[in-house]
Amino acid sequence: MNAPAPKTIYLKDYQVPDYLIDTTDLNVDIHDGYTLVSCMLALRRNPAAKQAATELTLQGADLELVSLSLDGRLLEEGDYTFGEESLTIFNTPETFTLITITKIKPESNTSLEGLYRSRTMYCTQCEAEGFRKITYYLDRPDVMSEFTTKVIADKKYPVLLSNGNLIEQGDAGEERHYAIWHDPFKKPAYLFALVAGDLAHIEDSFSTSSGRAVTLRIFVEPKDLDKCDHAMASLKHAMRWDEEVYGREYDLDIFMIVAVDDFNMGAMENKGLNIFNTSCVLAKPETTTDVGFQRVEGVVAHEYFHNWSGNRVTCRDWFQLSLKEGFTVYRDSEFSADMGSRTVKRVEDVTLLRTLQFAEDAGPMAHPIRPESYIEISNFYTMTVYEKGAEVIRMLANLLGKENFRKGTDLYFDRHDGQAVTTEDFVTALADASGRDLSQFKRWYSQAGTPRLDVTDYYDEDAQTYSLTIKQSCPPTPECQNKLPFHIPIAMGLLGSAGDLPLYLQGSQPDFETSDNTHRVLELTDAEQTFVFERVQEKPVPSLLRGFSAPVKLNYAYSTRDLILLMSRDSDGFSRWEASQQLGLQAISAAMAAYQQERSLDGFSLSAQLVDAYRRVLQDASLDQAMVAYMLTLPSEAYISELADVIDVEAIHYSRQAVRKALANALADDFTRIYQSYDHRQPYAATADAIATRSLKNVALAYLMLIHDEGSIRACEQQYRHGNNMTDVMAALTQLVNSEAPLAQEYSLAALADFFGRWQHESLVVNQWLSVQAGCQLPDTLSRVRALLQHSAYDGKNPNKIRSLIGAFCNGNAINFHSGNGEGYAFLADQIIQLNRQNPQIASRLLTPLTKWKKYDHVRQQLMKAQLERIRAEPELSKDVFEVVSKSLA
Ligand code: PHE
Ligand code: ZN
Repeated sequence: MNAPAPKTIYLKDYQVPDYLIDTTDLNVDIHDGYTLVSCMLALRRNPAAKQAATELTLQGADLELVSLSLDGRLLEEGDYTFGEESLTIFNTPETFTLITITKIKPESNTSLEGLYRSRTMYCTQCEAEGFRKITYYLDRPDVMSEFTTKVIADKKYPVLLSNGNLIEQGDAGEERHYAIWHDPFKKPAYLFALVAGDLAHIEDSFSTSSGRAVTLRIFVEPKDLDKCDHAMASLKHAMRWDEEVYGREYDLDIFMIVAVDDFNMGAMENKGLNIFNTSCVLAKPETTTDVGFQRVEGVVAHEYFHNWSGNRVTCRDWFQLSLKEGFTVYRDSEFSADMGSRTVKRVEDVTLLRTLQFAEDAGPMAHPIRPESYIEISNFYTMTVYEKGAEVIRMLANLLGKENFRKGTDLYFDRHDGQAVTTEDFVTALADASGRDLSQFKRWYSQAGTPRLDVTDYYDEDAQTYSLTIKQSCPPTPECQNKLPFHIPIAMGLLGSAGDLPLYLQGSQPDFETSDNTHRVLELTDAEQTFVFERVQEKPVPSLLRGFSAPVKLNYAYSTRDLILLMSRDSDGFSRWEASQQLGLQAISAAMAAYQQERSLDGFSLSAQLVDAYRRVLQDASLDQAMVAYMLTLPSEAYISELADVIDVEAIHYSRQAVRKALANALADDFTRIYQSYDHRQPYAATADAIATRSLKNVALAYLMLIHDEGSIRACEQQYRHGNNMTDVMAALTQLVNSEAPLAQEYSLAALADFFGRWQHESLVVNQWLSVQAGCQLPDTLSRVRALLQHSAYDGKNPNKIRSLIGAFCNGNAINFHSGNGEGYAFLADQIIQLNRQNPQIASRLLTPLTKWKKYDHVRQQLMKAQLERIRAEPELSKDVFEVVSKSLA
């Protein structure tokens, strides 16, 4: 029999804690095979609690209680009782000191929550509820305490770290030593961290705006010491940026980053001691791609920014997760925009949002950015809470304008410093500082689903007026059937044949944010509204949702000609890209219609008009090369699938492929010119410009490889062999692996073997080697993936390896994962069942592709559902997997 279903936690049930913990004194005594944790808490009844509590319930999981004493008295059976993951102590006074001693086994902790061992080091991960795996505690973010931590370990672990400042260290006898750290800032337990290991570090320093010197250290395994410089440079940029843009200064004497190979997520913002997945810290040109470099910069900044948006001001409860995550993603995204190209960063963020977040919002796990309930909070570290949460902050920033937004964030930090607050508090601070009424806007926090805008227009030639009628609607989601209208900012302009037209919106002043009056933000608040523009001398093409000013789906019946005009003439770079994507979609849709009729695409061709438009983009020297690369990249299969009512896996794959081949043939000369004019001997740089030209050159290579001519295949193989950086090497390897041409296949086998031989000792590079094989679009990839599970390079306990092989296959290889016989689904279910107990968080995340079953054809639906049911029938399902499986089948 299955255990009773785990219980649901509701936001509406929130109550303040009965007790507060003024100070927390930890003593963590690490031995081979076990660790003793002694924890002294100074407890005090919470004056804000409704009733004076006379018992105390602490959370604890997988702990062995050694002893428990209250104000020096050893407690005995009857003084306390165990619940499921909790310990309740009876007859507790107003204030008291509690000392618990617990024994834990980090060596056998495979969940990677709490204290665990990764390769040669010990480390912790406490967000969201991992601290309870270290000791009994009030493990909730609104209990903030001043921590002092003593770490004791064998001297074979010379580096002993925790949060705050080092106050003492010394010998502990028998080849052991200790270090005591004190963190002067009160914090919730989820921000606690501890590390013990044989680590090397690089060091730098930063002088804050008020002139304080901060020591910066990045700790890694000694073999990785040569891959820390980029993270350090990124950290210093982030520190300066937060001072300049938000007026936020760092507050401790030291800031540390530790790189860990076994980590469930990207990184963690523990106070003064960030712990990172190696994949988000380590970078050097020979081993790391451009995307990798950018990810390191973004994640380092993200975690650093949490020091204010998350740590100094934290969350009252986990329903408020987007308070810190949405805001911090917005902050890191603006940082990256300032470090590189703003439009490019916007295109990348929107691409991610529209594929993964929109799909989540349309599926069974849809939830508002502030969820109302959960079973397992780890399941809510989602695209919605992070990426849509960031979009909501972006809308607020745009609605308020730069100055007022800054006033608002200043007020927020000032008002709530040292507190655990709600998203409501955040919006209130912005409203108070700006004087704006944000009451309707708050619906973005409570209603899930992607709003849809249907736009129609009418041009009155005689009156020279142009009206835009915009209707908003939002599909039902599990928590809410009928949505109230959102407050939606729609940035826009109107294009005439010669470009942007001046805007005279009826009943309003010109928008002086743009000096030429060609751009404005319409605020849609009703279910339907009409906006009338005057003095419009020709029928315009509307440029709508510039910069993707709101996370919505926009429908307007653009003709091919309209899109070509927008693509070449719009003053907004994002809109130009968006037009290129719409054009691509139109071409793919045409191919899909043909495929669905004939099951063949022989003789498919593109219109000359379309080819010319793309050619002009390739030849436009005024464009950022990265933008050219993105404009020439067709919408992904994932995005096309998201837009479809029913996903036709084969039609999407082969149609997109057919359009790519047609473009390759039609534009071969331009692609050849771009490829050949690139100097492959230039030294690598991770600058925005260098990344841009490299990416366009590699897009050109990808197209050329579709032509199957010997010259391109040989060039590709040369690029693999002689590439002086991982971006070029991987780009070439990916093309060889995915090409059907026999010569390319031959090269690819040799290259894969060569690659592994060369990089087998670099774990992060091996991950890329696994991913490129798992992503292969040719037949038989599943057997290859199965074989790789047995390869010595694979480690089924390491999340990065799991993501690189299983994740890459199931999320990035639709044509194989969704193969009609269902073997991909069964494969994934097998893996999830195996991971369910070992690492519930990873198991649950891997489930995502199966949760989308309702979007597929009948046969696939049955096959996917059968696997979900098989998983649900497993004994001892973790809360994580249970929640996702049961909601998917509901
Ligand atoms: N809070 C981390 C972040 O910066 C993410 C995280 C969540 C890491 C849970 C580990 C565990 O987004
Ligand atoms: Zn974060």
